[in-house]
Amino acid sequence: MEKSSGKKNTAVLISGRGSNLRSLIKYSKEKKSLIRIVIVVSDNFSAKGLNHANKFKINNIVIKYSNRKSFENRLLKLLKRNNVDLICLAGFMKILSGSFIKKFYKPILNIHPSLLPKYKGLNTHNRAIQNKDKYSGATVHIVSEKLDSGKIILQKKVKILKSDNKKSLEKKVLKIEHKIYPKAIIKLLASD
Ligand code: GRF
Repeated sequence: MEKSSGKKNTAVLISGRGSNLRSLIKYSKEKKSLIRIVIVVSDNFSAKGLNHANKFKINNIVIKYSNRKSFENRLLKLLKRNNVDLICLAGFMKILSGSFIKKFYKPILNIHPSLLPKYKGLNTHNRAIQNKDKYSGATVHIVSEKLDSGKIILQKKVKILKSDNKKSLEKKVLKIEHKIYPKAIIKLLASD
């Protein structure tokens, strides 16, 4: 494993489309980036995001999720083998256990499409629109045992217009997600 550059070996976990993965890959390719993506892990064989990993020749693997314990045991071994220092969840749809988080013992980040602590869990855009919120946004936070509740690293707002629907809001928020995930990594690692 290369170590000399001081970049953090990073694992990105996905379940689907992988547009945040793509933005993290793009960032990792910048000369001054603080991360090197050493592995992409999916719990889903048909995750489209795996194509991004393949395109950039990044090592990737699907770990079948039959139950949490066996998934997490396999994942931990894989992370160890790859000297992973940082995990970025990017649309990863499974909840990691407290025991996994303790055993990994290094930072795990997640990106969530709302202004946390508002709208933890799923269906965030519909909920923001239904509540007639003026703003929505995205949050990058540390993963803790409680869903979408760990320390907030970075958050950015977008205005919800009267004309917005779920699709248009999702698009606006996603654009912001792609910008703030790399920034949050820089913020986290700069304080290291
Ligand atoms: C993003 O909205 C992210 O915030 C949420 O799941 C979605 C994943 O999108 N956790 P993508 O797979 O990165 O395109």
